[in-house]
Amino acid sequence: MLYLIGLGIHDEEDISLRSLNILKKIDKVYAEFYTNAFNGDLGRLEGLIGKKILILSRQDLEERPDENILKYSLKEDAALLVSGDPMIATTHSDIVLRAGKSGIKTRVIHSSSIYSAVMETGLQAYNFGKTASIPYPEKGYHPTSFYDVLRDNLKLGAHTLFLLDVRAEEDRYMTVNDAIRILLQIEEKRRESIFTEETLCIGAARLGGDSLIRYGKAKDVKDYDFGKPPHILVVPGRLHFMEEEMLETLTHK
Ligand SMILES: C[S@@+](CC[C@H](N)C(=O)[O-])C[C@H]1O[C@@H](n2cnc3c(N)ncnc32)[C@H](O)[C@@H]1O
Repeated sequence: MLYLIGLGIHDEEDISLRSLNILKKIDKVYAEFYTNAFNGDLGRLEGLIGKKILILSRQDLEERPDENILKYSLKEDAALLVSGDPMIATTHSDIVLRAGKSGIKTRVIHSSSIYSAVMETGLQAYNFGKTASIPYPEKGYHPTSFYDVLRDNLKLGAHTLFLLDVRAEEDRYMTVNDAIRILLQIEEKRRESIFTEETLCIGAARLGGDSLIRYGKAKDVKDYDFGKPPHILVVPGRLHFMEEEMLETLTHK
């Protein structure tokens, strides 16, 4: 059996009792932190479950899972720990599919996720449109699809959640400030008035921990220091009066 276990949204204290009980019983426990920043104390978790946690890199999990996690769970029970909820990352659906093809049973233990934590901003879950990820631009690689997602969501009056790039191997995590600058640069080229200095947006950091949320015009939020990762950027669409009221309280925090 392969367990996919969510560590929850912030640190080692977010894990469920159900997960701890499973982790105490099984032999091999792996974790990956390349899909999200983890602010927890892994040593403390190892103490609680009485065993070492083996960290897998992106290459381990995406290119050679047959040499680690799948190889082991073919014979014995193993677990993969994931920051947030394990099913909010396409990599983990791929692992479930691969496990199934190798005859390995899987069980998912859910946990708190950015998909629920974002509602701390006061926006309501059913008013969100498609989520978009903002990657770091690179030489010869300047993706803009997330700008199109924003345009399409705005047309529907829907809110947009932007997940920000994680380069764990380089210890590089995109900030709200980077995300706003990238969107403004695209706006400068495309001139569709989708995301301008006047656009109202929400920057948030470390939700579920020492949550920091700021709401305002892009030109004001872009220079605010949000501190340690992980960060998200949200652009609200049409606001329900209760959402407006919640955002008002953020403005005066
Ligand atoms: C691929 S998503 C990981 C999702 C994770 N499995 C979950 O369920 O929350 C990673 C991105 O989510 C956002 N994120 C995750 N946790 C966060 C938190 N506590 N506060 C702010 N943003 C967060 C960041 O933009 C981060 O780069």
